[in-house]
Amino acid sequence: MTKASLSRQQSNSDNLCDIGFIGLGVMGKNLVLNLCDNDYKVACFDLDQAKIDGIVEQDALERKTEHARVVPCKSYSELLSCLKSPCTIVLSVPAGEPVDHVCNHLIDAGIEPDDIVVDTGNSLWTDSVERESTYKGKFVFFSTAVSGGEVGARFGPSLMPSGDPYAWTRIEKIWQDIAAKVDPKTGKPIESYEPGNPVKHGEPCTTYIGPVGAGHYVKMVHNGIEYADMQLICEAYHIMREGLSMSPAEIAETYREWNKGKLNSYLIEISAEVLDQQDPESGKALVDMIMDKAGQKGTGLWTAVSALQVGSPAQTITQAVFARSLSAFKDERVKASKKLAGPNASITSVDSKQEVIDQLHDALYCSKICAYAQGFQLMAIAAKEHGWTLDFAEIAKIWRAGCIIRAVFLQSITQAYESNEKLENLLLDPFFVEQINKYQHNWRRAIAGACIAGIPCSAMSSALSYYDSYRCEVLPANLLQGQRDFFGAHTFSRMDKPEHKKFHIEWNTPERKQVTIKK
Ligand code: 6PG
Repeated sequence: MTKASLSRQQSNSDNLCDIGFIGLGVMGKNLVLNLCDNDYKVACFDLDQAKIDGIVEQDALERKTEHARVVPCKSYSELLSCLKSPCTIVLSVPAGEPVDHVCNHLIDAGIEPDDIVVDTGNSLWTDSVERESTYKGKFVFFSTAVSGGEVGARFGPSLMPSGDPYAWTRIEKIWQDIAAKVDPKTGKPIESYEPGNPVKHGEPCTTYIGPVGAGHYVKMVHNGIEYADMQLICEAYHIMREGLSMSPAEIAETYREWNKGKLNSYLIEISAEVLDQQDPESGKALVDMIMDKAGQKGTGLWTAVSALQVGSPAQTITQAVFARSLSAFKDERVKASKKLAGPNASITSVDSKQEVIDQLHDALYCSKICAYAQGFQLMAIAAKEHGWTLDFAEIAKIWRAGCIIRAVFLQSITQAYESNEKLENLLLDPFFVEQINKYQHNWRRAIAGACIAGIPCSAMSSALSYYDSYRCEVLPANLLQGQRDFFGAHTFSRMDKPEHKKFHIEWNTPERKQVTIKK
């Protein structure tokens, strides 16, 4: 018996904590407060004593000292000795090496084989798979990807758990309590931002995703979609700003209008807020003072890499990553802007300002449908490759509230997969077929106008290319296969013969005879 479990046995179990929590950064601290709001007693540890003091103070402030739910710990072993057995320990530490660092300290401190360690960071999904086997026999490694930023963590995030199904039965209730909630009738978030008053009804935005790794894979794709969604909103802003000379405040107003309809989403809402913000230093619009170089922590890149690896066409997501990369070349862009000519044409030479705004609305909507179609297609292909059974209706459901891409639109995606769980592509769902058909004219006009005026819209146009390629019965890959066979004898299949039969033309002989390739 380890020292930690001995001391647990000796304590009165009423005094023991329900959950151990390690890592009290922005996300960690808010998840702890959310757990406390839901009546869980949490033993907390961080390498930084100031962060432990901070959470104790905040808990006391919110819950009055006599009902404090945070128990501060000075070491890994103290944390273990404070917990009910078997223990559940949640980690909110930076992805990568820090996760293993903490896991190894927990082993040294006497963690037991049936204790559960839940990683909630933005970990690479393959790391989670590896960790499950690395720590087998020492403790149960479980993962839960979290979306929603600091406010989500505090008042209800979207949680994507995966790993040992038995571990899930032990934490399911906790996750359901702290997750964001959706009104089952409307599919809309039920929100409360009042400490100590969590939402207790509605559908929780959490569901068991699958074997370890699956949850972080799904979250990674969520972030890929997030990148695309953000880039699309930014392109619409750019076209309004450059092509229509609209002020940030005017664009904010337009986004507020759009937020009342089918584009209603958290990202549109916060974009309006950002555009309306005055810079306290210069008094100008803050957006004009923010350096136009986008940062990235890597989850969009991981999505793009995974799409390339499994051969899933996720060009709008990948394009959004490239757009961030290109923005980082600020100095070169400044120089190029003085040397490289663009067209001398106005976006309003054919259509009026209001017509262009309406076109942009529809372009954003149709492009968004394509970005989500790509994300779900990628998850479907990856699931096949890795042997996961992903429930796409459930995934769409838990993204309706709490997470960064939460949007009214996710209710339509939920319905699409609920009515056909084998749906090959979102674009083939009858509702989305009808929607794109209705709005594609404006989508095309918006992109054409931006191209003629020389304003980049790489994500929007890649979404349109995805749509046009996907609906194309014959693509020029026939010529491409001919080229490959010409220079590399790579062979081709024929339209009039079974696909597995391969042919080659002897291009370097005058007869150019066709030969059948036998495997
Ligand atoms: C979320 C966010 C969150 C984080 C991103 C930011 O779902 O809560 O996606 O995970 O804000 O990692 O990513 P970038 O720094 O790459 O934009």
